Amino acid sequence: MEVARDNNVPGIDADCGGACACSTCHVYVDTEWVEKLPGKDAMEEDMLDFAWQSDAERSRLTCQIVVCDEIDGLVVHLPERQA
Ligand code: FES
Repeated sequence: MEVARDNNVPGIDADCGGACACSTCHVYVDTEWVEKLPGKDAMEEDMLDFAWQSDAERSRLTCQIVVCDEIDGLVVHLPERQA
């Protein structure tokens, strides 16, 4: 989320500033990357219920994804709109 925000990527609103309290940083992780990311915690799972057309497998809140070398090249797709 911070990388997107700092680089003016449209579609990542991040209204709560990364507190996992808004779901406006929702993305769909590319299917090839889903298993490579650490799992969602309960708070992220709960907040994804408020995301627009969330997908149980591919949806993530980008504020909960920690950037590290292991996910270099991560591919995500933006929803048509945020909640
Ligand atoms: S920025 Fe609000 S939930 Fe991610």
